[in-house]
Amino acid sequence: MKHLIDPMDLTKQETDEIITLAQDIIAHRERYQGSMAHKKLATLFYEPSTRTRLSFTSAMMELGGQVLGFSNPQNASVSKGETVQDTVRVVGCFADIIAMRHPIEGAPLVATEVSRVPIINAGDGSHSHPTQTLTDLLTIKRELGHIDNITIGFCGDLRFGRTVHSLIKALSRYEGIKVILIAPQELKLPDYIKQDVCERTGIPYREVETMEEVMPELDVLYMTRVQKERFLDEDEFDRVKDSFVLDCARLAHAKEKMAILHPLPRVNEILTEVDSDPRAAYFRQVENGKFVREALIVKLMEWKNDPEHGMPDEEPPVVDPELHCPNRKCICNNEHAPHKFRKTENGVLRCWYCDSKIK
Ligand code: NCD
Repeated sequence: MKHLIDPMDLTKQETDEIITLAQDIIAHRERYQGSMAHKKLATLFYEPSTRTRLSFTSAMMELGGQVLGFSNPQNASVSKGETVQDTVRVVGCFADIIAMRHPIEGAPLVATEVSRVPIINAGDGSHSHPTQTLTDLLTIKRELGHIDNITIGFCGDLRFGRTVHSLIKALSRYEGIKVILIAPQELKLPDYIKQDVCERTGIPYREVETMEEVMPELDVLYMTRVQKERFLDEDEFDRVKDSFVLDCARLAHAKEKMAILHPLPRVNEILTEVDSDPRAAYFRQVENGKFVREALIVKLMEWKNDPEHGMPDEEPPVVDPELHCPNRKCICNNEHAPHKFRKTENGVLRCWYCDSKIK
């Protein structure tokens, strides 16, 4: 069975198949209207969401399927202390596929260990957000005509912005990608993405502190919100909250065909004066999110019983009672998930669930 927890759970070919199917759905919506008739999607959202939850709901409805679930965990048994694994075991009796968003990193992965239906990670803490990645890839494809050979600038909160982490991983499999990281010191990209993704796959990346210095080079400018809810320290948040703001004056130096993406919601990092610029793709990106989620649901249901489309092979985990994950927001420090680890190619041990480095 195929789950989507991390963008790398899909092969490059499977990723491209989903993007191609999304484009076909856009071109021939009527052909897909009954394809999920009598199927049910459960949306289990333990954290706030507008776009992601509603786009999953709308996607399933467009396919003729039904949707159940919760958007406020206070109304569900989790408020009585039920674990993620137990909730998923129960919901698997009622739904054919599950989309889960959770503030704790690794929660959707732990869910896959017991689930009898495919699980889609709709965002886990500041870790991953693979369906936003599919949305972003489809948007780049539709805006520029290609995903290969682009220079992409990521701007803002690269430390806690899970959409950035997942998109860089996925882009590492395309040709001729150059990454420019535009962030203040406090919001730099985590080392695990720099080392295990960029350095290992040989994607050239550069860190800069202003967007002005790189604007003319960019094919895509990926703006992000400073993730207030993930900061442990209020003062640190206040220092960086207005770090990078895109306005028309800054945009004047960009290529004529550059695409501006933002996973949304925005706070103030893109002024509304930019919205009418033809390069502002972020509202088109929202709509792409619905089509790509339709394509994902169709494909995961098709692959459910197909041994050709399982999860990627992995080395068995390292388990050592002396070792513990240091991340307080990891599932293994919040529920009775075992502490287990993966040895990366450069010999570093990382948490199986959240990728934190083990000292
Ligand atoms: C993003 C998320 O939840 O990570 N939003 C989304 O899914 N479209 C980005 C954010 O919250 O800033």
